[in-house]
Amino acid sequence: MSSFPSALPEPDFTPLRGGRALRWGILAPGRIAGGFAWALHRHTDQRVQAVASRELDRARSFAATYEIPHAYGSYEQLVSDPGVDIVYIASPHSEHKRQALLAIAAGKHVLVEKPLALTAAEAREIAAAARAAGVFAMEAMWSRFLPQTTLIDRLLRDGVLGDVRLVMADFGVRCDFDPESRMFNPALGGGALLDLAIYPIWFAHFALGAPSRVLATGELARTGVDGQTALVLTTATGAQALLHTTLFAWTPNEATLSGSLARLHVEARFIAPGGFTLADSRSEARLRWTDGSGVRGSEALAYQASAVAQHIADGLTESPLHPLDRTIAVLETIDEARRQVGYAP
Ligand SMILES: NC(=O)c1ccc[n+]([C@@H]2O[C@H](COP(=O)([O-])OP(=O)(O)OC[C@H]3O[C@@H](n4cnc5c(N)ncnc54)[C@H](OP(=O)(O)O)[C@@H]3O)[C@@H](O)[C@H]2O)c1
Repeated sequence: MSSFPSALPEPDFTPLRGGRALRWGILAPGRIAGGFAWALHRHTDQRVQAVASRELDRARSFAATYEIPHAYGSYEQLVSDPGVDIVYIASPHSEHKRQALLAIAAGKHVLVEKPLALTAAEAREIAAAARAAGVFAMEAMWSRFLPQTTLIDRLLRDGVLGDVRLVMADFGVRCDFDPESRMFNPALGGGALLDLAIYPIWFAHFALGAPSRVLATGELARTGVDGQTALVLTTATGAQALLHTTLFAWTPNEATLSGSLARLHVEARFIAPGGFTLADSRSEARLRWTDGSGVRGSEALAYQASAVAQHIADGLTESPLHPLDRTIAVLETIDEARRQVGYAP
């Protein structure tokens, strides 16, 4: 049995600078693509070599903003650029499978925004294609690569929490209703489960493993996508996760792990750099950890990019921290939750 530690270990993450610098190609210059380019150039030695849009003018404007040498007016041109090592796919969810297969067929490594695809079946297709081609493929679950998450992983592996029986986590955002937006439009893979709940669901899989039972109850939005859902995941050992997501309100975005020996509370927003408190079972002893790096919000997308570059330098085709089988298992949970709340795309 592990006793309560007197101090926390140091987080063990891939340094943001140094190591192999990949030449990145950005496919789809939308909102998160801008955050990604900014994070890479500000915090890492990784370089964005090219960007592609469906409209050349948009690619040129993005390239000028982020000092990217090449701009293309089609995604096909980007994936056939021999100067690009890896393609970062930042289009709406509905496009991920087609574009990941396009890049993989061109022999490129891929980092695909979350969710990797609309369904577990689509994700399996991408995984099979990447494995057959021998290229690196990963879903951009950036929160897994934060210093705090590497530390939580270490505490779990060291048994500091004991037997983890309960995970609680939420992610709710009040989205202005626009039936054409990617949050509400079924054709773009709208809904809270794929866009927001993927984080708390991933966190539960990370801490407990895949569930053997999924219970979901919720409400659809006016466009028919899932608008709000409460989930209970139960594992084979009876451990449970209570999770929540909504497009209709701002919810705390916190996460708590409760184990037989200790409890760990990750402060808002648990998906981004912040801090957590570890408390013993009687709350008599407490240890607090705060991210003092100064890397905040979406700038922390840099951590996953450095880790991916290191994985590729190490000759890996998947991340041991966020392997494709985990992505597929999380999407299986989402598939089942969407079915139970009555979202039938
Ligand atoms: N990791 C994170 O924190 C985070 C945050 C936000 C979003 N995301 C993920 O990133 C992805 C993109 O989200 P976003 O908010 O950046 O989206 P966005 O601002 O709407 O940008 C998406 C881009 O995709 C391209 N695109 C290709 N096919 C499209 C289509 N059929 N409809 C609309 N746009 C299309 C467009 O660029 P062109 O037409 O110019 O090619 C557009 O600029 C989503 O999968 C989302 O889950 C992740």
